[in-house]
Amino acid sequence: MKNYSELNRNELLAEFESVKTEYGHWCSKGLKLDMSRGKPGPDQMDLSTELFELVNLDLGYMNKSGIDCRNYGGLDGLVELKQLFAEIMQVAPEQVIVGGNSSLNMMFDTVAQAMTNGMGDKPWLLQGKIKFICPVPGYDRHFAICEHFGIEMIPVLYKQDGPDMDIIEELIKDPTVKGMWCVPKYTNPDGIVYSDEIIRRIAALRPAAKDFRVFWDNAYAVHYLTEKEDHILSIYDECVKQGNPDLVIVFASTSKITFPGAGVAAEAASPANVALIKSRMSFQTIGPDKLNQLRHARMFTGIDKIHDHMKLHAKILRSKFETVLKELDNSLADLGIATWTKPNGGYFISMYVTPGCAKRAVALCLDAGLTLTPAGATYPYGKDPQDSNIRIAPTYPLTDELANASSLLCTSVKYAVLEKLIEPKN
Ligand SMILES: Cc1ncc(COP(=O)(O)O)c(C=O)c1O
Repeated sequence: MKNYSELNRNELLAEFESVKTEYGHWCSKGLKLDMSRGKPGPDQMDLSTELFELVNLDLGYMNKSGIDCRNYGGLDGLVELKQLFAEIMQVAPEQVIVGGNSSLNMMFDTVAQAMTNGMGDKPWLLQGKIKFICPVPGYDRHFAICEHFGIEMIPVLYKQDGPDMDIIEELIKDPTVKGMWCVPKYTNPDGIVYSDEIIRRIAALRPAAKDFRVFWDNAYAVHYLTEKEDHILSIYDECVKQGNPDLVIVFASTSKITFPGAGVAAEAASPANVALIKSRMSFQTIGPDKLNQLRHARMFTGIDKIHDHMKLHAKILRSKFETVLKELDNSLADLGIATWTKPNGGYFISMYVTPGCAKRAVALCLDAGLTLTPAGATYPYGKDPQDSNIRIAPTYPLTDELANASSLLCTSVKYAVLEKLIEPKN
């Protein structure tokens, strides 16, 4: 099929009729498919069943420093996991707070703390309007945290190697700009890896607000899909070099290493930030689930074990990503109506369709039985100014389902674009 821009009106109408028939076939199948959230599939979670055997009477409940993990205490987590997360998060072990199962929860709590008690300055709540820089497209739940606290979001477009720093360096001159979300490796959804230059420029920021913090969500730190492992600079080390140690708070978790519902999350920062965070936590809890931490410590006795384990994930995921990419290539590559990412890691393929067509394409998919992330969700307030980005999450469905789901997505994209191309112009 020729590029749609080369088709005359009659050819477009004929193509639309054929795509409508194709779409009708999909609707008649009664499908129930879901490519909406970046969840690991059951086959990936099966890789970690060993965890269930690692805390029992025979092995005992003590960690290596002699803490009885069944009991209260140990606010900032077990030393073994501090060591492990230190390697993942590129910081020193004593900077790490190991928490419960969700890093998003830790991000939420840290923003909440800044709102009510401040980040070394007056509570954000008492400072009037608060704004966050939100590189886009980005993670919808970061944006949801901002919305929850009434924080105004300023979208800043990603370039190929990270967010547009020229714009960010201007924005931080405004003292009401208090924070910035970053997913430095395999961004959700575009799979971008921040370059050394971008990381150095972030570390060198001198925001007008002294209580400005970068929320460095390294959710996909070890989540590569190919043999090539991308490496990023340690943001904390770069901040220290710039005399800016308090600028950044780093987050990570094992949600997509072991179990999203029962993994371990961590947060790391400068001594001053850690002291602030722990002072709040001491009111919140008497200690995390150390038995789960112990299980993880026994399964991953070093960072090499994590890398070996992630290779098993990658093997499963590669074939899923390839199934989707093959379908996109076969059905859409020549038509000039969509582009998409081919990421080296992370959990998503990000597709850009002809502006003004993403919402319609996603709605068509839904009507035919395929749930996708709502179009616009990757932008603050759910508003993609171009109505172009569609986030595809290939990890959860079975490979057979993925072939159908991607094929239906391609039909829906063609349908939405053709509908727009042939609509009468006023
Ligand atoms: C960028 C990003 N951060 C955080 C999370 C959630 O992390 P957790 O499971 O540790 O709460 C996700 C989940 O998809 C994510 O994509």
